[in-house]
Amino acid sequence: MIDRVKTGIPGLDEMLNGGIPKRNIVLVSGGPGTGKTIFSQQYLYHGLTLEEPGILITLEEHPVQVRRNMAEFGWNVKDYEEKGLFAIVDAFTGGIGESAKREKYVVRSVDEIGEFLDTVKNALRDTKAQRAVIDSVSTLYLTKPVTARNILMQLKRMLSGFGVTAILVSQVSVTERGFGGPGVEHCVDGIIRLDLDEVEGGLIRSIIIWKMRGTKHDMRRHPFEINDKGISIDTEKIVKSISRLSVYGGVEQ
Ligand SMILES: Nc1ncnc2c1ncn2[C@@H]1O[C@H](COP(=O)(O)OP(=O)(O)O)[C@@H](O)[C@H]1O
Ligand SMILES: [Mg+2]
Repeated sequence: MIDRVKTGIPGLDEMLNGGIPKRNIVLVSGGPGTGKTIFSQQYLYHGLTLEEPGILITLEEHPVQVRRNMAEFGWNVKDYEEKGLFAIVDAFTGGIGESAKREKYVVRSVDEIGEFLDTVKNALRDTKAQRAVIDSVSTLYLTKPVTARNILMQLKRMLSGFGVTAILVSQVSVTERGFGGPGVEHCVDGIIRLDLDEVEGGLIRSIIIWKMRGTKHDMRRHPFEINDKGISIDTEKIVKSISRLSVYGGVEQ
C-alpha cells in the first residue's frame, strides 16, 4: 500500500483511487476562471483539518486577499498561521505596502530564483509542511519561457527534498493546447486539467486526471461545481461531446 494524501475535494479522492500518492508534484492546469486557485486552497485547508501543515506561495494575489477569499469558503487560516502550521509566502507584493510589511515570508523579487527558493525553504522548514501550493508557476517564467524547465526542476528538487505533496498551478490561455508548455508538462508526476466550456449558451465546468504517477485513476471527464463550500465533483456523471476547443484549439467541427 502506498501512502496517499487526501485532497478532501468531494469526488476527487475517489477519482484518484484514494488520494494523491505522497510526494507527487501535481500540475493543476486550466484557463482563467476554471477554479485552479479554489482547488489548491481547498487542498491545503483540508490538510490543516487533518493536522498536516502546509504553505501557499502566492504570486498573483495579495496575501491579505488570499486570506479573505479563503475565509469566504469557511477556510480560516489565521489560527493555523499563528500556531505555525500554515504559512503564506508572499511573492506578490515585493514587500511594498503597509500590509506587506506584516508578512513573515516575503520574496522581494521573483526574478531572483535563489531568493525565491530560500524563502520557500524557510516556510517549509518552519511549518514542517506536508503540503505546498504554488499559485501560479506560470508567473515565475512567463517572461522567460526558456528557463521554465530549469526553474521547475529546481522547485521540484526542493519540494521532494522536504517530502511534501505539492500542487503547482499552471495557467493556460482559453484556446491553448496542452498544460503549460513542454518544459513544464514533462517534469511533473501528475496533471489534473480543469475546464470551462460554453455549451448551449452556458458555461459548464469539468475535470479530468491526465496523469498520476504511482496509481491507477479515473480516466473519465466529470462535471464539477463551485459553491459556498468550494469544489464538488459529480463522479456519477461523465462530460462528453462538448466542444474541446479549449483543450485542443483549432477549428470547431
Ligand atoms: N462562492 C462561490 N460560489 C460559486 N462560484 C464561485 C464562488 N466563488 C468563486 N466562484 C467561481 O470561481 C471562479 C474563480 O475561481 P478561481 O479558482 O479563482 O479560478 P482560477 O484560479 O482558475 O482563475 C469565479 O469565476 C466564479 O465562477
Ligand atoms: Mg487563480
